[in-house]
Parts: sequence; C-alpha cells; structure tokens
Amino acid sequence: MENELVREIAKWKEKRDAVILAHYYVDGAVQEIADYVGDSYYLAKIATELKEQVIIFCGVSFMGESAKLLNPNKTVIMADSSADCPMAHMIDKERIQEVRKEYSDVAVVCYVNSTAEIKAYSDICVTSSNAVKVVKAIGQKNIFFIPDNNLGRYVSKMIPEKNFIFHDGFCHVHKSIHLDRVIEAKRVNPEAKVLAHPECTKDVLNIADYIGSTSEIIAYATQSECEKFIICTEMGVFFELMRKNPKKKFYSVGHRQFCPNMKKVTLEKVLGALKEMGPEVLVDKSISKKAVIPLQKMLEFAK
Ligand code: 13P
Ligand code: SF4
Repeated sequence: MENELVREIAKWKEKRDAVILAHYYVDGAVQEIADYVGDSYYLAKIATELKEQVIIFCGVSFMGESAKLLNPNKTVIMADSSADCPMAHMIDKERIQEVRKEYSDVAVVCYVNSTAEIKAYSDICVTSSNAVKVVKAIGQKNIFFIPDNNLGRYVSKMIPEKNFIFHDGFCHVHKSIHLDRVIEAKRVNPEAKVLAHPECTKDVLNIADYIGSTSEIIAYATQSECEKFIICTEMGVFFELMRKNPKKKFYSVGHRQFCPNMKKVTLEKVLGALKEMGPEVLVDKSISKKAVIPLQKMLEFAK
C-alpha cells in the first residue's frame, strides 16, 4: 500500500512539475519521499532556488507562507492546510505597535514561527539556526524579540551587549520537555550528550551539551565521536538521526516530544495535494508586499 502511494506521488509530481519540501518534524515516511528535507532556514532558502513551478509543503502554515512570500509567482500547496504552529499566533500587531511607541529605535526581530501579518509589522526575521548571527548584525541596541520567549532569552545570553524586550510566546512541545526527565535520561545514560533545541526552557538549555536547530542537532550528532545522545526536540528528527547514524543510540525524554500539527501530514495527503493542486497558500497582496521584506533581510544577513 505504502509503495503504491509512493509510486503514485512520483507520477503526479512529474505531471505537475512539482517539488516536495518537508520539515524534519514530519513523519519519516513523508521525509523519505521529499525532494528536500531541512530546518526552517534551509527550507526558506531552498524555496528560492527551485526550478519547479509547484511547491508541495510538508510542514506547518508559516513555512508554506514563507515559501509563498519568497516566491509569489509559484504555486505553493500545503499537504495539510490545517497544520499550524500555535506559537505563530501568540503575538498581535497591537503589541508590536506599543513597543515601537515605547522605544523609538527598536528593531522588531520576528522568529519565522509567526504569521505573514506579524512579519509585515516586523523589521527582520530569524530562525533558530541564524538568530544569533542575524541579531548580532543588526544596528539597533534595543531588540524586541517575538514571539518565542525561550529562543529570545537564549539569543540574549549570546549577545549581552544588546537590550532585549521579550514576549511570552512558547512552543508547547518544547515546553513540555521537563528538566527532571532530562536529568533522569542522563542518570540512565551518563555518557550520553544532551542535544537541545533553543525553544526548550532555560533549565533544559542550561544542562545541554549542545544547543541548535533541528539540522544543527542532526549535524552535531553525526559529526560527534560520542555514541549516545539525549534528544530534546520533536521526535521527527529521530528519522534522520538514525538514518545517518545507524550505530549510534538516540534517547527521547518522554512521550510528549510530539508536534500534533506536523504529524497531520501523511503520504495520502501529499498525493491528494498533487492531484487536486490544493489547498494553495494565498497571502493578501497588501500583507505580502511588506511581509517579504524581513524574510529577504534574514536571507541576506544570514549568508
Ligand atoms: P527549526 O528551525 O530548528 O527547524 O525549528 C522549527 C520549529 O518549528 C521548531 O519547533
Ligand atoms: Fe510550532 Fe512547536 Fe510544532 Fe515547531 S514543534 S511547529 S514551534 S508547535
């Protein structure tokens, strides 16, 4: 059945001149049929380098939206249009306007896990893999970092010379990775290195051996001489970690390392998207004109 689906997807992909992009958090079976798999920075960047006219996005809404903003003339289709990141909705434009009034010289730094509308009110976007580099390069001293509090605080620790204003957004998946579970995993496997995504709480980040984006975690584990790793991010990364490192051991820290939105994407839905050429990502022109600017700036600054 799965093989039949894979064959059908390949057939329809060619027929539609389509390319499939997938995030590391989607199901392994979907990662396997994708043409490009990566973290959110890689996916935004690669989306600008493709020759195909149609992009099928296997991830959550903000990722498809970013691909569309950067490629307004392409057709971007979500494998599942209801797959959304709750954190993307944890800030509103009124809060940005308030902070802008309070600090005349503030730079609004927007994590890509945000809506197109919020990007339109921001100065520059970042992802977890480039946030430190991008914020360091910004001229302003005052930084309003939205929406993720944990990532913002992590970045601020790396750049003590700047003054950060934080927001209270969070990722429920990373927030539910508790310090006591990580300590317990470490007690069972004391030689294992703790690898954590910067969306984790500061308690977890404080005991991590390495902090990085999904692809940085995979790259670190692959290059490391260590054989065992405790993984503090969404479980989808285990697919690539184990594919690249069949002899190494990867441990989770509990059943909650699961993003229900990312897991909505299935092979059946990818095939449906190709056949129906929908649901298409559409962004209002009045928003897209402004929202693309911080994304383009990010690509420029992160080079
Ligand atoms: P990455 O940029 O590391 O892929 O993270 C995306 C994300 O949604 C983390 O929860
Ligand atoms: Fe959003 Fe968290 Fe899911 Fe990433 S893992 S898409 S931040 S809810």
